[in-house]
Amino acid sequence: MTQHRQARQPRPVVKPEPNSIQLADLPLRPELVDAVPYGAPQLDVPVRLNVNENPYPPSEAVRKDMAKAVAKAAKSLNRYPDREATALREDLARYIGFGVSSGQIWPANGSNEVMTHILQAFGGPERTLLTFTPTYSMYPEYARNTHTAYVTRPRNASWGLTTSEILSAIEEVKPNIILLTTPNNPTGTTIPVAVIDEVCARTDAIVVVDEAYQEFTDAPEDSCIALLPKYGRLIVVRTLSKAFALAGGRLGYAVAAPAVVDALRTVRLPYHLSEVSQVVARVALAHAPEMLARVDELRETRANLEDWLQMHGLDVVSSQSNFVLFGRFADRHAVFQALLDRGVLIREVGPSGYLRVCAGTPRQTDAFRTALLDVLPTAHRLVPEEE
Ligand SMILES: Cc1ncc(COP(=O)(O)O)c(C=O)c1O
Repeated sequence: MTQHRQARQPRPVVKPEPNSIQLADLPLRPELVDAVPYGAPQLDVPVRLNVNENPYPPSEAVRKDMAKAVAKAAKSLNRYPDREATALREDLARYIGFGVSSGQIWPANGSNEVMTHILQAFGGPERTLLTFTPTYSMYPEYARNTHTAYVTRPRNASWGLTTSEILSAIEEVKPNIILLTTPNNPTGTTIPVAVIDEVCARTDAIVVVDEAYQEFTDAPEDSCIALLPKYGRLIVVRTLSKAFALAGGRLGYAVAAPAVVDALRTVRLPYHLSEVSQVVARVALAHAPEMLARVDELRETRANLEDWLQMHGLDVVSSQSNFVLFGRFADRHAVFQALLDRGVLIREVGPSGYLRVCAGTPRQTDAFRTALLDVLPTAHRLVPEEE
């Protein structure tokens, strides 16, 4: 007699309650396991000098114009925005100069998003990005998120890079994308345009130059944008977040050959740049001299800060940006924390023993100096023999 097998019951799936589910219970991509979201601490303290912002808000006149533009845009927020951001790109082209056209501009939500577009278009599986450390801590995350291999080589002893140093790294790594940051974060050091010119002449890779802090340099017009007529694979990335005092507006842009812009347009999300972002950025650009009015002052503050830190026996990296890297401390976290306890937030970043502070208003910079003077006597400084 045939035995009837009992029909197999599907195994019950044990699912944690939605409210008790942990990150570890989720089917994350393996490379995201144990990863933490990027971000400098956003703390509500009196003096915040940790993310290289311009400390001055837009003027009242600019704010009024922004409010008017947003009110006008609000009337048609039922509609999608212009996904080509045509008017904004024309304004950006005018602001940038160098004879660039709007077809050479690619704007997005901060240069963070522009970089992601670049890696989505030119990076990806089996492709490699080469950059030079120490540098901006977001770069490995853009690479991870786009499945691009991230390979670094160290900067030289003065945190700079020569043509031969870059070329020998290219020879060795054979990257698809080379990312050069000038001025570099967190060192504030620059790479001469002539060096990047030679690199571009000797490689077929995409060369991305991150000029987020260009307006703070001694010669802001000495930009790699000038090289664009010579090199179709060069991309210069800029932002309105720093000198331009619009970090909250989230507007960064790439300047490149129109074909490169077409590649970036291919990977962007539809309507990636909201109508509100577009109109706010346009108002800011219409007031460019006013938005940039504090740049000279901030440059001077940074230079004075360098002198002051040096006068107090600290090791200071000479900067061309709005921030300074200084040290070296045996326990930099202790110094960071002691400053924070006194209401001053700076950044624990870069090579070991160093801290980074950015130029603030006179009141903020004074508060930093007062707090540091208080902390320095008990801070253990590293001397070369201790390394
Ligand atoms: C070198 C560098 N590039 C890009 C950015 C990001 O700027 P954005 O606000 O335009 O995304 C930063 C921000 O700190 C930076 O230091």
